[in-house]
Amino acid sequence: MQLNSLNDLFVEQLRDLYSAETQLVEALPKMASAASHDELRQAFEHHLDETRGHVDRLREIFEQLGTTPGSETCEAMKGLIEEGEEVVKAQGDAAVKDAALIAAAQRVEHYEIAGYGTVRTFADDLDLGDARDLLDQTLDEEGSADKLLTKLATGGMLKAGLNERAK
Ligand SMILES: [Fe+2]
Repeated sequence: MQLNSLNDLFVEQLRDLYSAETQLVEALPKMASAASHDELRQAFEHHLDETRGHVDRLREIFEQLGTTPGSETCEAMKGLIEEGEEVVKAQGDAAVKDAALIAAAQRVEHYEIAGYGTVRTFADDLDLGDARDLLDQTLDEEGSADKLLTKLATGGMLKAGLNERAK
């Protein structure tokens, strides 16, 4: 990895995010089918649509920069998804499994929020307003996805499911 300028670092970080997003496009359908609660499944399906849009926005930025997404693998996202897949394959109580899916998904969202916060700032520093606007839109959607997961986790959905089974 050659990091001679902020622009080099910007491109490197964008490539990392591109790998993360494309891995997530593969993983989210599995998370959606593993979810028992309708609202959780819908949240994963909705975020899958958004995630495809995140991939498109990154492609647009690579084009604007006259470069390509490259072929690097985001090892951190690979690890987070592996942990998610352990939950997908897990046996047991449906509501507990939903809680575990939310826990895995929020780790993913927080990772992305950190990544997009960084590249948005770099785009600003580099006076790349168009890229910054695109990254801002994605950052907003990652934030909303995270908030929705919190709402589902704390809004009584899990508690209701768990208490139902405890009877
Ligand atoms: Fe995303």
